[in-house]
Amino acid sequence: MNRTAAVAPGALPVIGHAWPMMRDPLRFIGSLSALGDLVEVRLGPVRAYVPCHPDLVWQVLTDDRVFDKGGPFFDRVRATIGNGVGSCPHAEHRRQRRLIQPAFHRARLERYAAVMAEESSALTSGWRDGQVVDVYPALFGAALRTVLRCLFTTRADDGAVERMRRSVETLLHQITARMFVPAVVQRLPVPVNRRFDRALGDLRRAIDSMVEVYRRGDGDRGDLLSSLLAARDEDGRDRLDDAELGDQVLTMLVAGSDSVAATVSWALHLLDRHPDAAHRLRAEVDEVLGGRPVRASDLARLSRTGRVVTEALRLYPPGWLFTRITTEEVELGGHRLPAGTTVAFCPPAVHLRAGVHDRPHAFDPDRWLPARARELPRGGFVTFGGGARKCAGEAFGLAESSLLLATLVSRWRLRGARGSDVRPVALSTALRPRRLLLEASAR
Ligand code: HEM
Repeated sequence: MNRTAAVAPGALPVIGHAWPMMRDPLRFIGSLSALGDLVEVRLGPVRAYVPCHPDLVWQVLTDDRVFDKGGPFFDRVRATIGNGVGSCPHAEHRRQRRLIQPAFHRARLERYAAVMAEESSALTSGWRDGQVVDVYPALFGAALRTVLRCLFTTRADDGAVERMRRSVETLLHQITARMFVPAVVQRLPVPVNRRFDRALGDLRRAIDSMVEVYRRGDGDRGDLLSSLLAARDEDGRDRLDDAELGDQVLTMLVAGSDSVAATVSWALHLLDRHPDAAHRLRAEVDEVLGGRPVRASDLARLSRTGRVVTEALRLYPPGWLFTRITTEEVELGGHRLPAGTTVAFCPPAVHLRAGVHDRPHAFDPDRWLPARARELPRGGFVTFGGGARKCAGEAFGLAESSLLLATLVSRWRLRGARGSDVRPVALSTALRPRRLLLEASAR
């Protein structure tokens, strides 16, 4: 059988669907499932297919040999963050994943959670009663400091951390747009490209010198970089070389900062719009924390907090579009796709699809109670991807988001302030509110 995929309306020559996609990604992607189970869109001039049915999404995610990371979009990603575990092709992935996996082992996560708890408390230490907070940048700073400290344990001096923060911010602001811009345009000597190149160069140098310091030192500092340095394959011979280490570190910085900041921003926005849910969440947090600062060990009892985070991740998945390229001819939902076809895996296409989730647009954290969550089809919740390439930092990101949210809710009542513009935008790699302003009243 070879059916023809539905075509999303409104593509323009050259830019394709770039305009509706960048202006309102959630609305555009969320509208596709009404057209069919597999929908053709244009990423610039490139024809791409978006699976909108959970079974098709699952096939794409789990057959990572045929639906591989490659093609022009990944060439551009690799030109920036290198060939780390998140961007390398299938042929190299198993090895890389095996080598980085111990860095996310449960026992290490407990240590990272202690850093997360500290950074959560530090986030609001300078806030004043009645202050209006621009939420996303504040959370981005906290999330990036957390991932930096978990990578390097170090109390690297504030100046160095601030320089790295600025560089990562510059990269994140441009990575998505650069995926759609031809290499020759990226090389033009215009200010935006120069800023990008400078930020990337600074960051690479900072990471390289950190790796050098760690190579000279000895012993496990309990952080991500120590674990990456110590990683060996089964026969103890294979390990990550310095260039590969640099790529992995850059991958963690890019993957692990704005995703968490966006998640907690959306959770706060949703709670602002749903006072009953906010009330129930405060009750849980007050009972668990009893007014003291959050600790890593609280996580197990912050179950409602976890459900609010997960529901925010369903309604507003930070990663909204990831591409794959088919390495051979393959059938997807009755459509035959030749080798070299671009497939775009977009979580909102299934998260907002009627029939997959009950009342898909409603904020309902209790849909994540175990009995209800069990009913969900495979491929129905793919915020963290799936299969061999599922997010390596899932537990890390969930823990950090819950600890941040619990800390904020325990200390502050946050209400929407004038000047907010909560349209979801892809200004960095994560989908986040354009400008979420909340007035913070001390509790
Ligand atoms: C709420 C926060 C997060 C979300 C929603 C998220 C989402 C994702 C998704 C969807 C993928 C798969 C992409 C694909 O299939 O093309 C991914 C991969 C990855 N993520 Fe996350 N992520 C989050 C936090 C983190 C954190 C905190 C880290 C590290 C500190 C991290 C590290 C990674 C890595 C290394 C990969 C590549 C995995 C592989 O290909 O083997 N992520 N993430």
